[in-house]
Amino acid sequence: MQTLQTAAQLRDSVNAWRRQGLTVGFVPTMGNLHAGHIRLVEEARQLADKVVASIFVNPTQFGEGEDFGAYPRTPQEDAAKLEAAGLDLLFLPAVEEIYPSLGRPATFVEVPGLSEELCGKFRPGHFRGVATVVCKLFNLVQPDMTLFGEKDYQQLAVIRRMVEDLNLPVSIRGVATVRDADGLALSSRNGYLSAEERAVAPRLYQILQRTAAAIRAGDTDFARLESHHLAELRQAGFAPDYLAIRQAGDLSRPAPGDTDLVILAAARLGKARLIDNIRLQA
Ligand code: PAJ
Repeated sequence: MQTLQTAAQLRDSVNAWRRQGLTVGFVPTMGNLHAGHIRLVEEARQLADKVVASIFVNPTQFGEGEDFGAYPRTPQEDAAKLEAAGLDLLFLPAVEEIYPSLGRPATFVEVPGLSEELCGKFRPGHFRGVATVVCKLFNLVQPDMTLFGEKDYQQLAVIRRMVEDLNLPVSIRGVATVRDADGLALSSRNGYLSAEERAVAPRLYQILQRTAAAIRAGDTDFARLESHHLAELRQAGFAPDYLAIRQAGDLSRPAPGDTDLVILAAARLGKARLIDNIRLQA
Protein backbone atom coordinates (compact mmCIF):
# COMPACT_ATOMS: atom_id res chain seq x y z
CA MET A 1 0.00 0.00 0.00
CA GLN A 2 1.30 3.45 -0.92
CA THR A 3 0.64 6.33 1.49
CA LEU A 4 0.81 9.75 -0.18
CA GLN A 5 0.38 13.22 1.20
CA THR A 6 0.38 15.51 -1.82
CA ALA A 7 -1.98 15.97 -4.74
CA ALA A 8 0.93 15.81 -7.20
CA GLN A 9 2.08 12.39 -5.95
CA LEU A 10 -1.49 11.13 -5.96
CA ARG A 11 -2.02 12.27 -9.55
CA ASP A 12 1.21 10.57 -10.71
CA SER A 13 0.18 7.24 -9.20
CA VAL A 14 -3.37 7.34 -10.51
CA ASN A 15 -2.21 8.45 -13.98
CA ALA A 16 0.21 5.52 -14.15
CA TRP A 17 -2.69 3.12 -13.48
CA ARG A 18 -4.84 4.85 -16.07
CA ARG A 19 -2.14 4.45 -18.72
CA GLN A 20 -2.30 0.72 -18.01
CA GLY A 21 -6.07 0.79 -18.57
CA LEU A 22 -6.89 0.02 -14.92
CA THR A 23 -10.10 1.24 -13.24
CA VAL A 24 -9.99 3.17 -9.97
CA GLY A 25 -12.40 2.98 -7.02
CA PHE A 26 -12.40 5.62 -4.30
CA VAL A 27 -13.52 5.61 -0.64
CA PRO A 28 -13.37 9.02 1.09
CA THR A 29 -13.25 8.92 4.90
CA MET A 30 -12.39 11.02 7.93
CA GLY A 31 -10.44 8.16 9.51
CA ASN A 32 -10.75 6.45 12.91
CA LEU A 33 -11.76 3.52 10.79
CA HIS A 34 -14.12 0.73 11.81
CA ALA A 35 -15.64 -2.28 10.05
CA GLY A 36 -18.13 -0.04 8.19
CA HIS A 37 -15.33 1.85 6.44
CA ILE A 38 -13.48 -1.38 5.74
CA ARG A 39 -16.61 -2.86 4.12
CA LEU A 40 -16.54 0.04 1.64
CA VAL A 41 -12.91 -0.77 0.77
CA GLU A 42 -13.72 -4.47 0.37
CA GLU A 43 -16.63 -3.72 -1.95
CA ALA A 44 -14.49 -1.30 -3.93
CA ARG A 45 -11.95 -4.09 -4.47
CA GLN A 46 -14.68 -6.19 -6.07
CA LEU A 47 -15.61 -3.39 -8.46
CA ALA A 48 -12.33 -1.73 -9.44
CA ASP A 49 -8.78 -2.77 -10.34
CA LYS A 50 -7.20 -0.28 -7.93
CA VAL A 51 -8.64 1.24 -4.76
CA VAL A 52 -7.80 4.62 -3.25
CA ALA A 53 -9.02 5.74 0.19
CA SER A 54 -8.57 9.17 1.72
CA ILE A 55 -8.41 10.19 5.34
CA PHE A 56 -9.10 13.87 5.82
CA VAL A 57 -10.92 15.44 8.76
CA ASN A 58 -12.58 18.17 6.74
CA PRO A 59 -12.83 21.45 8.69
CA THR A 60 -15.48 23.00 6.43
CA GLN A 61 -18.13 20.41 7.31
CA PHE A 62 -17.93 21.06 11.07
CA GLY A 63 -19.97 23.88 12.52
CA GLU A 64 -18.94 26.20 15.30
CA GLY A 65 -19.02 24.35 18.62
CA GLU A 66 -18.93 20.97 16.89
CA ASP A 67 -16.29 18.31 17.43
CA PHE A 68 -13.65 19.19 14.77
CA GLY A 69 -10.88 19.47 17.38
CA ALA A 70 -12.00 16.41 19.33
CA TYR A 71 -12.68 14.22 16.28
CA PRO A 72 -10.63 11.03 16.83
CA ARG A 73 -7.45 10.91 14.72
CA THR A 74 -5.79 7.48 14.57
CA PRO A 75 -3.77 7.45 11.32
CA GLN A 76 -1.41 4.62 12.26
CA GLU A 77 -4.14 2.17 13.25
CA ASP A 78 -6.15 3.24 10.20
CA ALA A 79 -3.24 2.60 7.81
CA ALA A 80 -2.74 -0.90 9.27
CA LYS A 81 -6.44 -1.72 8.80
CA LEU A 82 -6.45 -0.43 5.23
CA GLU A 83 -3.32 -2.33 4.34
CA ALA A 84 -4.86 -5.54 5.76
CA ALA A 85 -7.98 -4.86 3.66
CA GLY A 86 -5.86 -4.78 0.51
CA LEU A 87 -6.02 -1.05 -0.21
CA ASP A 88 -3.66 0.15 -2.97
CA LEU A 89 -3.27 3.83 -2.09
CA LEU A 90 -3.98 5.88 1.01
CA PHE A 91 -4.23 9.65 0.45
CA LEU A 92 -3.53 11.52 3.68
CA PRO A 93 -3.44 15.21 2.79
CA ALA A 94 -2.69 18.09 5.14
CA VAL A 95 -5.34 20.82 5.41
CA GLU A 96 -3.24 23.17 3.20
CA GLU A 97 -3.18 20.57 0.44
CA ILE A 98 -6.97 20.56 0.19
CA TYR A 99 -7.57 24.22 1.08
CA PRO A 100 -4.47 26.05 -0.23
CA SER A 101 -5.90 29.55 0.08
CA LEU A 102 -5.23 29.68 3.81
CA GLY A 103 -8.43 27.92 4.72
CA ARG A 104 -10.52 30.63 3.05
CA PRO A 105 -11.75 29.12 -0.20
CA ALA A 106 -13.88 31.38 -2.38
CA THR A 107 -15.60 28.55 -4.23
CA PHE A 108 -18.03 26.12 -2.63
CA VAL A 109 -20.27 23.40 -4.00
CA GLU A 110 -23.83 23.61 -2.74
CA VAL A 111 -26.80 21.34 -3.20
CA PRO A 112 -29.62 23.56 -2.00
CA GLY A 113 -32.90 22.14 -0.77
CA LEU A 114 -31.66 18.67 0.05
CA SER A 115 -28.85 20.15 2.18
CA GLU A 116 -31.18 22.23 4.34
CA GLU A 117 -33.48 19.39 5.37
CA LEU A 118 -33.10 16.97 8.30
CA CYS A 119 -29.44 17.04 9.47
CA GLY A 120 -28.92 20.23 7.44
CA LYS A 121 -31.38 22.04 9.70
CA PHE A 122 -29.38 21.18 12.78
CA ARG A 123 -25.94 21.48 11.17
CA PRO A 124 -26.12 24.57 8.93
CA GLY A 125 -23.37 24.55 6.29
CA HIS A 126 -22.50 20.91 6.98
CA PHE A 127 -23.51 19.52 3.59
CA ARG A 128 -21.92 22.46 1.78
CA GLY A 129 -18.64 21.45 3.44
CA VAL A 130 -19.22 17.79 2.55
CA ALA A 131 -20.15 18.48 -1.10
CA THR A 132 -17.19 20.84 -1.50
CA VAL A 133 -14.58 18.47 -0.11
CA VAL A 134 -15.99 15.44 -1.93
CA CYS A 135 -15.99 17.36 -5.23
CA LYS A 136 -12.39 18.42 -4.60
CA LEU A 137 -11.38 14.85 -3.74
CA PHE A 138 -13.10 13.55 -6.90
CA ASN A 139 -11.09 16.08 -8.93
CA LEU A 140 -7.86 15.01 -7.25
CA VAL A 141 -8.39 11.24 -7.47
CA GLN A 142 -10.49 11.16 -10.68
CA PRO A 143 -12.01 7.78 -9.80
CA ASP A 144 -14.25 5.70 -12.05
CA MET A 145 -16.42 4.80 -9.09
CA THR A 146 -16.90 5.84 -5.49
CA LEU A 147 -18.53 4.15 -2.53
CA PHE A 148 -20.52 5.75 0.27
CA GLY A 149 -22.26 4.21 3.29
CA GLU A 150 -26.06 4.23 3.48
CA LYS A 151 -25.64 4.99 7.17
CA ASP A 152 -25.17 8.64 6.16
CA TYR A 153 -28.25 8.47 3.97
CA GLN A 154 -28.71 12.19 3.45
CA GLN A 155 -25.01 12.62 2.63
CA LEU A 156 -25.31 9.90 -0.03
CA ALA A 157 -28.38 11.68 -1.49
CA VAL A 158 -26.50 15.01 -1.57
CA ILE A 159 -23.50 13.41 -3.32
CA ARG A 160 -25.71 11.64 -5.89
CA ARG A 161 -27.44 14.93 -6.67
CA MET A 162 -24.15 16.83 -6.95
CA VAL A 163 -22.71 14.22 -9.34
CA GLU A 164 -25.87 14.32 -11.46
CA ASP A 165 -26.17 18.12 -11.52
CA LEU A 166 -22.48 18.71 -12.30
CA ASN A 167 -22.13 15.76 -14.73
CA LEU A 168 -19.20 14.43 -12.74
CA PRO A 169 -17.83 11.33 -14.47
CA VAL A 170 -18.01 8.97 -11.49
CA SER A 171 -20.46 6.21 -10.64
CA ILE A 172 -21.71 5.95 -7.07
CA ARG A 173 -22.38 2.83 -5.05
CA GLY A 174 -24.26 2.93 -1.73
CA VAL A 175 -23.20 0.28 0.80
CA ALA A 176 -25.51 -1.15 3.50
CA THR A 177 -24.91 -0.03 7.09
CA VAL A 178 -22.56 -2.22 9.12
CA ARG A 179 -23.84 -2.71 12.70
CA ASP A 180 -22.63 -4.08 16.01
CA ALA A 181 -24.27 -7.31 17.18
CA ASP A 182 -26.84 -5.31 19.20
CA GLY A 183 -27.88 -3.28 16.14
CA LEU A 184 -26.02 -0.04 16.82
CA ALA A 185 -24.66 1.36 13.54
CA LEU A 186 -20.87 1.55 13.66
CA SER A 187 -19.63 5.13 13.86
CA SER A 188 -16.42 6.89 14.81
CA ARG A 189 -18.57 8.96 17.18
CA ASN A 190 -19.66 5.88 19.19
CA GLY A 191 -16.33 6.29 20.99
CA TYR A 192 -17.76 9.37 22.73
CA LEU A 193 -20.34 7.20 24.56
CA SER A 194 -19.90 6.21 28.22
CA ALA A 195 -20.60 2.56 29.11
CA GLU A 196 -24.09 3.54 30.29
CA GLU A 197 -24.83 5.50 27.13
CA ARG A 198 -23.50 2.66 24.98
CA ALA A 199 -26.10 0.39 26.61
CA VAL A 200 -28.88 2.83 25.64
CA ALA A 201 -27.60 3.57 22.10
CA PRO A 202 -29.09 0.47 20.36
CA ARG A 203 -32.56 1.78 21.22
CA LEU A 204 -32.21 4.24 18.34
CA TYR A 205 -32.22 1.43 15.78
CA GLN A 206 -34.93 -0.45 17.72
CA ILE A 207 -37.23 2.58 17.60
CA LEU A 208 -36.58 2.97 13.85
CA GLN A 209 -37.42 -0.73 13.45
CA ARG A 210 -40.69 -0.25 15.33
CA THR A 211 -41.57 2.71 13.11
CA ALA A 212 -40.80 0.57 10.05
CA ALA A 213 -42.95 -2.28 11.41
CA ALA A 214 -45.91 0.08 11.89
CA ILE A 215 -45.63 1.31 8.29
CA ARG A 216 -45.29 -2.25 7.00
CA ALA A 217 -48.45 -3.11 8.95
CA GLY A 218 -50.29 -0.45 6.96
CA ASP A 219 -50.12 2.69 9.10
CA THR A 220 -49.82 5.70 6.75
CA ASP A 221 -50.36 8.47 9.32
CA PHE A 222 -46.73 9.50 8.98
CA ALA A 223 -46.98 12.68 11.07
CA ARG A 224 -48.43 10.76 14.03
CA LEU A 225 -45.86 7.96 13.65
CA GLU A 226 -43.06 10.54 13.64
CA SER A 227 -44.22 12.30 16.79
CA HIS A 228 -44.98 9.03 18.61
CA HIS A 229 -41.53 7.54 17.94
CA LEU A 230 -39.77 10.85 18.59
CA ALA A 231 -41.36 10.74 22.06
CA GLU A 232 -40.08 7.17 22.46
CA LEU A 233 -36.55 8.39 21.71
CA ARG A 234 -36.92 11.02 24.43
CA GLN A 235 -38.22 8.45 26.91
CA ALA A 236 -35.25 6.20 26.12
CA GLY A 237 -32.90 9.01 27.19
CA PHE A 238 -31.96 10.60 23.85
CA ALA A 239 -32.18 14.28 22.96
CA PRO A 240 -33.47 13.77 19.43
CA ASP A 241 -33.02 16.31 16.63
CA TYR A 242 -35.59 14.60 14.40
CA LEU A 243 -37.25 11.37 13.39
CA ALA A 244 -38.61 11.66 9.86
CA ILE A 245 -40.32 9.45 7.29
CA ARG A 246 -39.31 10.54 3.80
CA GLN A 247 -39.31 9.46 0.16
CA ALA A 248 -36.19 7.35 -0.38
CA GLY A 249 -35.13 9.10 -3.61
CA ASP A 250 -35.16 12.82 -2.89
CA LEU A 251 -36.03 12.89 0.82
CA SER A 252 -39.21 14.85 0.16
CA ARG A 253 -42.26 14.31 2.35
CA PRO A 254 -44.28 11.25 1.32
CA ALA A 255 -47.99 11.03 0.58
CA PRO A 256 -49.99 8.15 2.12
CA GLY A 257 -49.74 5.93 -1.00
CA ASP A 258 -45.95 6.22 -1.33
CA THR A 259 -44.03 3.01 -0.66
CA ASP A 260 -40.34 3.71 -1.41
CA LEU A 261 -39.53 5.28 1.93
CA VAL A 262 -36.70 5.85 4.36
CA ILE A 263 -37.04 6.52 8.09
CA LEU A 264 -34.23 8.70 9.38
CA ALA A 265 -33.31 9.87 12.85
CA ALA A 266 -30.63 11.93 14.54
CA ALA A 267 -30.35 12.04 18.32
CA ARG A 268 -27.82 13.24 20.83
CA LEU A 269 -26.76 10.91 23.62
CA GLY A 270 -24.21 12.40 25.99
CA LYS A 271 -21.45 13.91 23.86
CA ALA A 272 -22.33 11.86 20.77
CA ARG A 273 -24.75 12.78 18.00
CA LEU A 274 -25.97 9.50 16.52
CA ILE A 275 -27.70 9.08 13.17
CA ASP A 276 -29.35 6.04 11.65
CA ASN A 277 -31.97 5.11 9.09
CA ILE A 278 -34.02 2.24 7.70
CA ARG A 279 -35.01 1.93 4.08
CA LEU A 280 -38.50 0.59 3.38
CA GLN A 281 -39.44 -0.77 0.00
CA ALA A 282 -42.80 -2.09 -1.12
P1 PAJ B 1 -16.81 9.18 7.65
O1 PAJ B 1 -17.79 9.47 8.71
O2 PAJ B 1 -15.42 8.77 8.02
O3 PAJ B 1 -17.42 8.06 6.73
C1 PAJ B 1 -16.75 7.64 5.56
C2 PAJ B 1 -17.66 6.69 4.80
O4 PAJ B 1 -17.94 5.53 5.60
C3 PAJ B 1 -19.01 7.34 4.47
O5 PAJ B 1 -19.42 6.98 3.15
C4 PAJ B 1 -19.93 6.71 5.51
O6 PAJ B 1 -21.30 6.66 5.12
C5 PAJ B 1 -19.34 5.33 5.63
N1 PAJ B 1 -19.75 4.67 6.89
C6 PAJ B 1 -19.63 5.18 8.15
N2 PAJ B 1 -20.16 4.32 9.05
C7 PAJ B 1 -20.63 3.26 8.35
C8 PAJ B 1 -21.29 2.04 8.70
N3 PAJ B 1 -21.59 1.74 9.97
N4 PAJ B 1 -21.63 1.18 7.71
C9 PAJ B 1 -21.34 1.47 6.41
N5 PAJ B 1 -20.71 2.61 6.01
C10 PAJ B 1 -20.37 3.48 6.96
O7 PAJ B 1 -18.77 10.55 5.88
C11 PAJ B 1 -17.67 11.07 6.03
O8 PAJ B 1 -16.62 10.48 6.69
C12 PAJ B 1 -17.33 12.46 5.48
O9 PAJ B 1 -18.48 13.26 5.49
C13 PAJ B 1 -16.72 12.43 4.05
C14 PAJ B 1 -17.67 11.81 3.03
C15 PAJ B 1 -15.39 11.63 4.07
C16 PAJ B 1 -16.40 13.88 3.58
O10 PAJ B 1 -15.55 14.51 4.46
